[in-house]
Amino acid sequence: MVINSTANRAGNTATGTANTGLEPSRRFSVAPMMDWTTPHYRYLARLLSRHTLLYTEMVTTGALIHGDTERFLRHDPAEYPLALQLGGSDAAELAHCARLAEQFGFSEVNLNVGCPSDRVQNNMIGACLMGHPDKVAEGVAAMIEATHLPVTVKHRIGINDRESWEELCEFIEKVAAAGCRTFIVHARIAVLEGLSPKENRDVPPLKYDWVYRLKQTYPHLEIIINGGIKTFEECHQHLKYTDGVMLGREAYHNPWLLAGVDSEFFDSEPPVASRHEALRSMYPFIQSELERGVFLGHISRHLLGLFHGMPGGRQFRRYISENAHKPGAGLEVIQAALEKVQEPKEPAQTEATTSALSQP
Ligand SMILES: Cc1cc2nc3c(=O)[nH]c(=O)nc-3n(C[C@H](O)[C@H](O)[C@H](O)COP(=O)(O)O)c2cc1C
Repeated sequence: MVINSTANRAGNTATGTANTGLEPSRRFSVAPMMDWTTPHYRYLARLLSRHTLLYTEMVTTGALIHGDTERFLRHDPAEYPLALQLGGSDAAELAHCARLAEQFGFSEVNLNVGCPSDRVQNNMIGACLMGHPDKVAEGVAAMIEATHLPVTVKHRIGINDRESWEELCEFIEKVAAAGCRTFIVHARIAVLEGLSPKENRDVPPLKYDWVYRLKQTYPHLEIIINGGIKTFEECHQHLKYTDGVMLGREAYHNPWLLAGVDSEFFDSEPPVASRHEALRSMYPFIQSELERGVFLGHISRHLLGLFHGMPGGRQFRRYISENAHKPGAGLEVIQAALEKVQEPKEPAQTEATTSALSQP
């Protein structure tokens, strides 16, 4: 893993776009998710798809500026293209952190205007900022000034008491006037009081037509749709009206879905033949993380969904859950868990494509 910017730049991969000045493709991306899109999950995701744009968990500007910056920005060049998501609203701090994103080799810097948690609301972070479009515009302008990286915004279609189409347009227009051209839109409002962050991902109804209408109204902007998307069929439907799809929970709980993305959306070969091959090619990385002192459970929890829906998948999960937390647990736990699942005999590409496409 790379922990300094020099090594990071040097380690740019063939498919990565970090610091090359090229825009990463946002046709298919995995959403930023706290505690889920960690470097360990992202490493697995990248083994399954070369082209999917990955996002970090949100990091607040305060944590980056006053905390252990290198730890928060730690990633492996193999993860590129990789966007850093920031939480914050102070323009000078956002600018400083956007500069850090560039120095550390990220491909994009994204501002979180969608998280509804109380904790972040108190610090003027996340969805509450939808009520302050001028503040977001000021922050975005400062970020754009500070970095060559693309600066994008992830937001909701509104917040309670600010739910009208006109208010959404006001938000988009102000932020676009500050120079942002890419908006990632979670197609439901956030309710800032009375609903937990988890409920806020399910309770307010999805309004995909609002996101399609944004693209129609502002054809010069890049509009990415997010929220409740599970299958490639749904992705194709959304891609008729928007520029890209972002998947969160489905990509985490069922990571093998990603193995079909390169052929389905980027007209290129899937990078791995089977789940078994993907997991085995992760062994050197797991081993080096263990040697660095990382606890096996912190890595293995992101592998639990790999055999989702497959015969033996449940035993794989159970074996890891029962053994990965034991003192001294190492790679042999993963190897033994893999033995619980029968290896497919059919040609690689068929397995990748059919399994990903057959998701319910
Ligand atoms: C565990 C978890 C953590 C999340 N953390 C973040 C975050 O850090 N930043 C953010 O913008 N959204 C966060 N989200 C919201 C997702 O990015 C996404 O917008 C939401 O889950 C809807 O997409 P989905 O239905 O495809 O999951 C999180 C979602 C989950 C499930």
